[in-house]
Amino acid sequence: MITEQSIQHLLTVVPIDEVVGDYVSLRKSGSRYKAPCPFHNEKTPSFVVSPTLGIYKCFGCQKGGNAIQFLMDIDNLSFAESARILANRYGITLEETRSIEDQDNFKEKQLHRESIQAAVDFAADYFQQQLHDTEEGASIALPYFRERGFTLETIKKWQLGYNPEGWESFTTAALDKGYKSDFLLGAGLIKERDNGSYYDLFRNRVIFPIHSVIGKVIGFGGRKMGNADNAPKYVNSPETELYKKSEVLFGVFQAKNAIKKLDKVLLCEGYTDVITMHQNGVENAVASSGTALTPGQIKLVKRFTQNVTVIYDGDAAGIKASLRGIDLLLEEDLNVRVVLLPDGEDPDSYCQQLGGEGFSRFVDQSEKTFIVFKAELLLQETDGDPLRKSDAVKEILKSVALIKDGLKRSTLLQQLAGVCQMEEVILTSELAKLLRQEKIKESQQLLNNVSQSTKEVPAEIHIQEPLTDKEQEMGFFRLMLLHGNKPALESNSLFHFLKQKIQEDDFLEFHEPFAQLLIPYFLNTEDIPDAGFFLNHENEEIARWAAGELTASHELSEAFAANLIDVSTEETQYLEVAINLLLHFKRKKIDKLINSKLLELKNPDCDMEELLLYVEFLNEQKREIAAVLGMAVSNMWIN
Ligand code: GTP
Ligand code: MN
Repeated sequence: MITEQSIQHLLTVVPIDEVVGDYVSLRKSGSRYKAPCPFHNEKTPSFVVSPTLGIYKCFGCQKGGNAIQFLMDIDNLSFAESARILANRYGITLEETRSIEDQDNFKEKQLHRESIQAAVDFAADYFQQQLHDTEEGASIALPYFRERGFTLETIKKWQLGYNPEGWESFTTAALDKGYKSDFLLGAGLIKERDNGSYYDLFRNRVIFPIHSVIGKVIGFGGRKMGNADNAPKYVNSPETELYKKSEVLFGVFQAKNAIKKLDKVLLCEGYTDVITMHQNGVENAVASSGTALTPGQIKLVKRFTQNVTVIYDGDAAGIKASLRGIDLLLEEDLNVRVVLLPDGEDPDSYCQQLGGEGFSRFVDQSEKTFIVFKAELLLQETDGDPLRKSDAVKEILKSVALIKDGLKRSTLLQQLAGVCQMEEVILTSELAKLLRQEKIKESQQLLNNVSQSTKEVPAEIHIQEPLTDKEQEMGFFRLMLLHGNKPALESNSLFHFLKQKIQEDDFLEFHEPFAQLLIPYFLNTEDIPDAGFFLNHENEEIARWAAGELTASHELSEAFAANLIDVSTEETQYLEVAINLLLHFKRKKIDKLINSKLLELKNPDCDMEELLLYVEFLNEQKREIAAVLGMAVSNMWIN
């Protein structure tokens, strides 16, 4: 066990912004830093790092803690592993005590993982030793690597190795050394026969170790050296507790500094592509190892850069299939470019042919914005058939709609107008349609997020709103009366959409006497309200209200008109109006919450920094809502 004292010492010495900054692009904001949270997907940053407190905190997913906790969370490490890495990095000596009790307390799972890591570490050493220190290695495997153009320095740097012919070379060595078969199996290094004996996963293959982002070997790829037999070219470690394939990119440990420095990553397919590029000085290359790109891998890339260039082999038949994966990159706000190599070349062969500088120049000169690339590819296939062309254009615009930056979008549209040979205005108006749908979806998402973070609010605090309480409350009934039967997102009608929202939210209470009178007719029924029913209602007040709303249905109240954006007529934009109305309610709730937190701050025993961070986060949400609503937000609480 590491002593509490040395942990405390470690935490005072280690700069948390530096530790977090290795993984996330931090933006300074006052005495703190901000970033989109690395632990959950989000568009606006709710992840805060405070160097003075030595903590990080995400107000979206609630993850938070000190530098040790951060490494545990982000790299899936145990407490001890994480503390040791930091101690190592900052030259701190950790005092440790060991007792039987401590050992017992050690979580079984951590023990298991550490045992698997030990087996993998042994294997990495063993494979290297077989390559460098045996006759077979020297006569068969080393020449293979050298023929592929790898220098000895490269071979050592990448910890390349070899497992000899035969079935049990590694298995025997590992068991002899006392590694338990359970852990060797768990590490995916050996397999079990029906009779209970074991054999090697990699046989007569050269070995490419796969490193985690912090440089630990977590898995291997084994390549056969000849092409004679029908065995697969590569055998790879299976998914294990250490090697989560969807979260790993080959070469990321070796490439991460160059990626940060150049602010760009080159994404290719194979182990040998990456190694050859690095050997030739192109050190920002990583590989997805033959699989389609996953969200986990994208998250990994995003820690280091926003700029991704995907390099396709010249003969890659799967380019079209991988377009989907690239849309994922766009969605994450990354700048994606594509390079297509000449026929028959892969990055390995082409980089050897051109040399590192020549290859880099080729990439810089021939890379294309992904969407333009996609457009050319899809249009080629339409053979000038106008129907197919229109489908292709729609498909392309869907990709454009994923880009958040308006400026980038319009620059792209200009380019695309040329590529598609279509009027830019047509593309613009088609895109506007798509974006409008997106915006509605996003507003709804925002609504849901805000609901979660603003659960308890005291009722007594009063705040001024641009819409009066009465206008807000009656707004709901008015919308249900006038547009209740129109479609609304996944709900079958606006009536059901609003009803569900109102029932989900405990804070959406109606205080207006007249609103309360209407509730039974709207909320205690499954039926979409029928105008006639209200017009002929025996309660005169209700009948008058319905008549008034129905005759003035094309007009927006002045207060609404002043506070809604993009709303020309309610008739077509009823859904935006409804969502905006809900957002106004949310904003009111956030204001109340902010005020109550500010009151708490007056309590001398409060956790001031935590409260201030929370208030800052709430203000951020308020700004987000305000941006959607197109309203000004008072800055009075923002320090
Ligand atoms: P070399 O032929 O050694 O230059 O490898 P390469 O990287 O050029 O191979 P290729 O482009 O065919 O494949 C790219 C990546 O897909 C490889 O690095 C492997 O990760 C993976 N891959 C290729 N072949 C196989 C295979 O037979 N089985 C498995 N599981 N993966 C493979
Ligand atoms: Mn190759």
